[in-house]
Amino acid sequence: MTGRPKVFVTRRIPEVGLELLRERFEVAMNAEDRPLSRAEFLAAIGDAEGLLCLLTDKVDAEAMDAAAKAKGFANYAVGFDNIDLAEATRRGIPVSNTPDVLTDATAEMAWALLFAVARRVVESDGLMRSGGWKGWGPLQFIGGDVAGKTLGVVGGGRIGQAFAGKSRGFDMPILYCDERPSEAMERDLGARRVSLDELLQESDFVSVHVPLLPSTRHLVDAAALRRMKRTAYLINTARGPVVDEAALVEALRAGRIAGAGLDVYEDEPRAAEGLAALPNVVMTPHTASATVSSRNGMAVKAARNLIAMVEGKRAPDCLNPGVYGA
Ligand code: DGY
Repeated sequence: MTGRPKVFVTRRIPEVGLELLRERFEVAMNAEDRPLSRAEFLAAIGDAEGLLCLLTDKVDAEAMDAAAKAKGFANYAVGFDNIDLAEATRRGIPVSNTPDVLTDATAEMAWALLFAVARRVVESDGLMRSGGWKGWGPLQFIGGDVAGKTLGVVGGGRIGQAFAGKSRGFDMPILYCDERPSEAMERDLGARRVSLDELLQESDFVSVHVPLLPSTRHLVDAAALRRMKRTAYLINTARGPVVDEAALVEALRAGRIAGAGLDVYEDEPRAAEGLAALPNVVMTPHTASATVSSRNGMAVKAARNLIAMVEGKRAPDCLNPGVYGA
């Protein structure tokens, strides 16, 4: 027994974050590189005074009952749809996320997917690796143009802005939709705020950057996909359930849109039936934030938030500051 507060980390994170926690706490961790089963998760958190959890951990009322001693939940992600924030708030428990440190990495991955699908990079790579290329041909792998095309950004927050900003140099008119106008989008990037319908109809690339909320679940559904141009591409680095994946498979199969670049899926780690067989899709396994500086930054942020919460201080990235009172 060390007498120090005990915290639980649900899966190994970069060492920089663990070191910060070990300086102050007794750190128990799922050291296996796999998510805990629900039963393992509930059994492991009983005596933790703080929990560093991941987007693959469902932190609901049942988990909060199991983690009865927890003074806070530090999510190792900017998205927090895995946590019942209202329930945590009702119980007076602070919850934190990891904003800012993964903004560029996520925006870059959206661009990587955009280029990969528009310029058919993965299909082409497959041909080269198979030894099947017979030499240059005028009709080979003709893809979509990027420069000068219209960029549609769904969600004008931090990541949407970073994604839009990286179009500089490609001379792309930018449309965005968001409940609130964004001065940064309009003043700095010259973006025009339009309705989702207009954005879908006018854009050559539609990139999704909204959090998963009841109001954004299946925001891009069959009807939305029908509004898009047949030559347009859909990119999703936000959360899988924002797009109706079965409807997307149908739209891609029927050629109702030109292609999709996806980093996130409705039912991870599963991709919808039929998706993997389509040549006009490029898929990555929810790795948009997987760069050295982003993942280290997330580890440091999550650790600092957890330290503050366990020590009874205000967490720097608290999502429900109301728990601290006025
Ligand atoms: C997040 O942070 O929400 C990403 O999905 C994972 O880094």
